[in-house]
Amino acid sequence: MKGLAGGRALCFSVAMGNRAMKEFWTGDVGARWVRMAPFLDAGFAQVTQMLVTRAEPLSGRSVLDVGCGAGALSRAVACQAKHVTGIDISATMLDAARAQAPANATYLEADAQTDRPPGAPFDAIVSQFGLMFFDDTVSALANLRDACAPGARLTFATWARAEDNPWFHIPRALAVRATGPLDSDPDAPGPMRMRDVPRVERWLRDAGWRDVTGETRALDLIQPGPLDQVAFFATQVGGASSVLAHHQADKATRRAVTAEIAAAFAAYDRSDSVHVPATVNFFTAVA
Ligand SMILES: C[S@@+](CC[C@H](N)C(=O)[O-])C[C@H]1O[C@@H](n2cnc3c(N)ncnc32)[C@H](O)[C@@H]1O
Repeated sequence: MKGLAGGRALCFSVAMGNRAMKEFWTGDVGARWVRMAPFLDAGFAQVTQMLVTRAEPLSGRSVLDVGCGAGALSRAVACQAKHVTGIDISATMLDAARAQAPANATYLEADAQTDRPPGAPFDAIVSQFGLMFFDDTVSALANLRDACAPGARLTFATWARAEDNPWFHIPRALAVRATGPLDSDPDAPGPMRMRDVPRVERWLRDAGWRDVTGETRALDLIQPGPLDQVAFFATQVGGASSVLAHHQADKATRRAVTAEIAAAFAAYDRSDSVHVPATVNFFTAVA
């Protein structure tokens, strides 16, 4: 992996601790994520809705959104909850969340693995793709449990295997074919860290959570078209972006990879949107 300090390495490695993760999400990647937030939020809308449904009842509750990013899930939860606190290690993401904050939402910089989130104890914790990046997952889950009132429910979503998620594996494979390989470890802190449901259920129990449930669901990431734009976005975040950045791909290579992604995603194209099939894990647990 090339050094994070160079600003080019976007891949996840086993050695990536929370400090490196903070740099990762605050620098180029965070800025790119924020620019693409409307597109990403639309793509994740089914996941957001499924999380809100699983987290209910939220009415009158004080809720913590962990790894809140630009705030899509906390905005959805705020419609029902008494108050939502979004925490994140990325100031870049938090600025974007604050710019769209509902009146009953607060966004704060905190490391969910080590910090006691301001506003604890909470009646519920939610997270959309925000719990996969800790260097010590069990201690992070225990820290979150300590931030809960007794009986509070944790509800979160993680990606299932990359092989079951064309949004990850197709762009990455095409980028590798065009530029060369890049080692990546799905067990490292990163998007695939919580792909295995029984293992995550075990981590939750080890961290002191009870009534743990996990299930894998197939759904669609419904992304506003046109197809070319969706293909371009697939080079900006996710598996292809790290490969292209690592190999310092030039503009022509990036254009060629984008065109190949568009050709591969054509099977998912509808008249006004692109429906990429996805496989997502949903977990609940009680403090
Ligand atoms: C994949 S993004 C998801 C953002 C948002 N929940 C969404 O669905 O759009 C993961 C987020 O987790 C945050 N994150 C990573 N490690 C964290 C930690 N230790 N404590 C708090 N947030 C963390 C990142 O900064 C990033 O904003």
